[in-house]
Amino acid sequence: MSEDSRRDDKIPVVQMLVVGFIASALGIAAGLAIEWFPTAASTQAGPIDHLYDVLIWTSVPVFVLVTTVVMFSVIKFRMRPGEENLDGPPIHGNTRLEVIWTAIPAVVLVVLCSYAWIVLNDIEEAKANEMRVNVTGQQFAWTFEYPQSGGKPIKSTQLYLPKDRPVRFFVKAVDVLHDFWVPAFRMKIDAVPGLETKYRVTPNRLGTYPVVCAELCGLGHSVMRATTRVVTPADFDKWIAEQKAPAEAAGGSGAGAEVDGKTLFTDGNGAATACGACHTLADAGTTSETGPDLDKALAGKDAAYVEAGITAPDEEIAPGFQGGIMPKNYGDTLSAEELKALVTYLGEVAGK
Ligand code: CUA
Repeated sequence: MSEDSRRDDKIPVVQMLVVGFIASALGIAAGLAIEWFPTAASTQAGPIDHLYDVLIWTSVPVFVLVTTVVMFSVIKFRMRPGEENLDGPPIHGNTRLEVIWTAIPAVVLVVLCSYAWIVLNDIEEAKANEMRVNVTGQQFAWTFEYPQSGGKPIKSTQLYLPKDRPVRFFVKAVDVLHDFWVPAFRMKIDAVPGLETKYRVTPNRLGTYPVVCAELCGLGHSVMRATTRVVTPADFDKWIAEQKAPAEAAGGSGAGAEVDGKTLFTDGNGAATACGACHTLADAGTTSETGPDLDKALAGKDAAYVEAGITAPDEEIAPGFQGGIMPKNYGDTLSAEELKALVTYLGEVAGK
């Protein structure tokens, strides 16, 4: 009878082990060969990447073990014609097996969690000479604030950091949940309204890296990006000095540099986001469709209308768009001069 022949089937443990071992080795090799992360630019990145490698070392064999046994069982114990009624009574309970399959994962998890906790504890350790940077997330822009002893804090939409100087970020949100993430630093944390979250980073590689919002926060979430520039300490001090006295640093004459509306539109002013990140404008060569196409929305409008559109964006919403998306604080973050330059520029080029 076929029942007897099936009972005699030996489970080929050796073959399964060989298949599982080869598959694990290939899986681990592939897992380690793939570049999962961008260039590392902080002292925190090394231990985090190593932790990730260890997780690959341990999780690939578990995955391969489970899939090997499942695939083997599907092939070996599949129901052949005429075997429909050969299943024995269902089995209930096997204490030894249950103890084993609970104990092994528990041990693996405790070991991995302890290791991850040690890594987190190490990279979050307070450092001497930490620089404080306040990070504010709002729909849909980041603002970075550098407190100055005995002066107004410096505000910027680009994150400037000196190389090798420990930084502590204090992260806030003004409207909804955002998440402050610099992939090159490997660190991220939620920006939560009504709460201040923090993390530490020591940038250790010069360069320009993206800042990303990693929490779905509305229509403009995908454009809620900024740039981190890790510069030499000397360049950083120079940048801080320029921010303190922008007119003298940029113009030289001390009479206030010429404010260029087009540059403001495409690059922002350090405290306000570039309009071109969200709006189409032929003259500036921008094509984003997050906000209204300004060549259409502003064509033939007067200066007062254009200005109101910048400082009070929710007073009148263009058809097909919704309110509450454009930041409402441009009246504060743009100087009177900058606002005038922007309004003049838009009046000259929109729809032309
Ligand atoms: Cu802010 Cu997504």
